[in-house]
Amino acid sequence: MKAAVLRAVGLPLQIEDVQIDKPGPREVLIRTVAAGVCGSDLHFLQGDFATPLPTVLGHEAAGVVEAVGCDVRTVKPGDHVITCLSAYCGHCDHCLTGRLNLCVSDETSRDADQPPRLARAGQPMPQYLHLSAFAEQILTHEHAVVAIRKDMPLDRAALIGCAVVTGFGAVTHTARLQPGETVAVIGCGGVGLSAINAALIAGAGRIIAIDTVASKESLARAFGATDFICSAQDNPVKAVRQLTGGGAHHALECIGLAKTAEQAFAMVGRGGTATIVGMIPPGQNLSIPGAALLSEKRLQGSFMGSNRFPVDMPRLVDFYMQGRLKLDELISRRIRLDQVNEAFAEMQTGEIARSVILFD
Ligand SMILES: NC(=O)c1ccc[n+]([C@@H]2O[C@H](COP(=O)([O-])OP(=O)(O)OC[C@H]3O[C@@H](n4cnc5c(N)ncnc54)[C@H](O)[C@@H]3O)[C@@H](O)[C@H]2O)c1
Ligand SMILES: [Zn+2]
Ligand SMILES: [Zn+2]
Repeated sequence: MKAAVLRAVGLPLQIEDVQIDKPGPREVLIRTVAAGVCGSDLHFLQGDFATPLPTVLGHEAAGVVEAVGCDVRTVKPGDHVITCLSAYCGHCDHCLTGRLNLCVSDETSRDADQPPRLARAGQPMPQYLHLSAFAEQILTHEHAVVAIRKDMPLDRAALIGCAVVTGFGAVTHTARLQPGETVAVIGCGGVGLSAINAALIAGAGRIIAIDTVASKESLARAFGATDFICSAQDNPVKAVRQLTGGGAHHALECIGLAKTAEQAFAMVGRGGTATIVGMIPPGQNLSIPGAALLSEKRLQGSFMGSNRFPVDMPRLVDFYMQGRLKLDELISRRIRLDQVNEAFAEMQTGEIARSVILFD
């Protein structure tokens, strides 16, 4: 099958022929229909975060099940599915307390003594985040996929696999925003725009979008922002504190920078919560004034929107089908697999929402 391979940090992805194995007992083989290009892929491409190389990037996908292993219970051939990188085992402490996204069991991957899921010219190729989705097929554990209704368009479904479940869940599950509360969202890419949309659906009183790129204003407002601050021109902390009369109830950092995470903490008011969604690379530390904790401000992380994705994703699909979740507007460009490097270049301008790769 054709796949976009990262050979070394910083190099463009190369389209190569990669071999994919047959499903093991609990595994699912998927024909990839669409895969979104996420800011996290860029972090691994640039080496901000490490993954064993060479590998196939991509982790935000939807497709059709081609084959399943003998013990698979949750999906069958022909099912339309969305993938999720936070594969869960179902019986560890995290899973059993409802925090599937925090499962770190290795049983959703293959053991080292088993044949690899992916190979190139007879050499095993490590799989990326359980998925390696920039490829014509994906082989993964059944607990990394969920079946969805068949009238849902798969290019839009793919975005639910990371950007939407992450941004939406950060607001509803991690931050637990209450109706009427104010929220500031820093960074209006695929994740931030999804957080804005979630805030609207959850009934936020005021939704303040922040980005350094001024042209993001119209997109942010289309997703539900009531205010926009261009942080290349204005100090976002001052502006949010002013707009909210002392600080927002919530701030969500959706970029992955220590500086903007500190801004998120600074712009929430007494009792407010800063939720950090962006992936801040190892070695970057945050600095916050200790005295601010006396006002019961909180700083917390959010991983994949604190999801219970087998429940969350079909609900998000329903929201889209009802016209409440915006996904059409999230796709800036539909591209072929061999245009994936263009998508990374465009992402770095900050001008686009999401690029989606379509497979024939
Ligand atoms: N926590 C998780 O589970 C999780 C899941 C998915 C993605 N992420 C992370 O979320 C972050 C966002 O992902 P994305 O796909 O939306 O990225 P993106 O590149 O599409 O969007 C980033 C946005 O931030 C803006 N921006 C950049 N620097 C800024 C600054 N200093 N101030 C204000 N705005 C700024 C850009 O203009 C752009 O609009 C990444 O770090 C990604 O790795 C985390
Ligand atoms: Zn992602
Ligand atoms: Zn588990």
